[in-house]
Amino acid sequence: MFIEQCPTAWWTTASPDVRSVPWGLPRRLPSIGSVAPADWTAPVRTARANRRYRGRMSNLEEALELDRRWSMVSRRSLFELPAGLIYLDGNSLGPPLRGLADNVGAAVREWSTHLISGWFGTDGRDGWVSLPERVGSRLEPILGAAPGSVVACDSTTVNLFKAVQAACDLRPGDLLTDSGNFPTNLYALAGIAHSRGRRLVVVEPESIENAIDSSVGVVSVTQVDFRSGRLHDLGSITQRVHEAGGVAVWDLSHTAGAMPIDLASNDVDLAVGCGYKYLNGGPGAPAYMYVRPDLVAEVRNPIAGWFGHRRPFDFSPEFLPDDGVGRMRVGTPHILSLVALDAALEVFADLDLADLRAASQSLTGFFIELLDRELGSLLEIITPRDSDLRGSQVSIRLPRADKLIESLAAAGVTGDFRNPDVARFGFSALFNTHEEVVRAVSEISAALGR
Ligand SMILES: Cc1ncc(COP(=O)(O)O)c(C=O)c1O
Repeated sequence: MFIEQCPTAWWTTASPDVRSVPWGLPRRLPSIGSVAPADWTAPVRTARANRRYRGRMSNLEEALELDRRWSMVSRRSLFELPAGLIYLDGNSLGPPLRGLADNVGAAVREWSTHLISGWFGTDGRDGWVSLPERVGSRLEPILGAAPGSVVACDSTTVNLFKAVQAACDLRPGDLLTDSGNFPTNLYALAGIAHSRGRRLVVVEPESIENAIDSSVGVVSVTQVDFRSGRLHDLGSITQRVHEAGGVAVWDLSHTAGAMPIDLASNDVDLAVGCGYKYLNGGPGAPAYMYVRPDLVAEVRNPIAGWFGHRRPFDFSPEFLPDDGVGRMRVGTPHILSLVALDAALEVFADLDLADLRAASQSLTGFFIELLDRELGSLLEIITPRDSDLRGSQVSIRLPRADKLIESLAAAGVTGDFRNPDVARFGFSALFNTHEEVVRAVSEISAALGR
């Protein structure tokens, strides 16, 4: 395996303000790490935040107005969220639907009633065998994919492995990705490059499009950078890959369920993604796999397994792949998890994804605006300010970002920390509100002693 031009870690390119001060603390920011623990008690900060919150009626009025404007998108009443908690982590793990236990309970009753015959369905019921395709068909409108081109199965890492291996069969040449890709993707790509004796080229995220040339066989990009929230242009990168004669494999984990994705009209070759983030399928929810319909006959699953067989229950010794995307399945599907994901996707059935995207841009834009208003240049926002260039998260970089996230958690605001110095806030327009944005920013200001 060769890693050409492996870039310096992105965080070493931080502004001098942040990195040049001993142990990384900028002079302009309060030193979270050095504050005595007693100063971080939630009640004190929350009282301060509440005063600030009440004192910012114009922000609140603006928020309520924005919430009214985007009310057609909100599905908050469908979700089970602890009262009072501001959950800004739906980009990592979406919350459960209210009543999900009934759906899963019904599946357990079906299991106890029908036992093994549950696989094939009786009395007009669909069997569990086809659930991966049925869940796939619910995902198709969310991904802008043609009917029959998506299947729900396995984890994202496993699906990425299958997709990239299949893409390598289609084209010789280098594998290309960017340093902002999620670590599991980088590991899988490095493993494939190693076993295939190919070069893995890793470039800076902003250079990916220019790095595509005829030496590249497979380009694998995650549409939104999990740290910075930067959105890659799926259409133009895919087009460039095709012009160079390559195959494009996309990871949609941080976009599906947050914005429309047009796989079909952009001619994407293969795509994968998580079911547990903005799609709210639950911890460890099955992932999904997309294959371009006119490519599927040429696509070989590197993990040939009986559930990818055309007729698994013939128990034939010879592997005959399914005609469609079902060939990317491997083994026995995880039925109880698929039932939960299936129920969660129902939320999207009558949703206009363009409205969902606009509401998400409004939430992230309002968050950035209030951070600017409250904290001005004290914070380094590393997410693009142009709303068309970001996903549905906002990341800020500061020393002891871990402490900030910890103290926000104590005040009832869930964000997350990404090593070494990123505090990340994900917004799902399905359940987050602009009012929550005002409260979250108040708590951030309070936590930073402002
Ligand atoms: C972009 C991306 N790809 C892949 C994964 C890992 O997915 P899995 O654990 O289902 O393999 C994650 C997990 O957060 C992710 O963010």
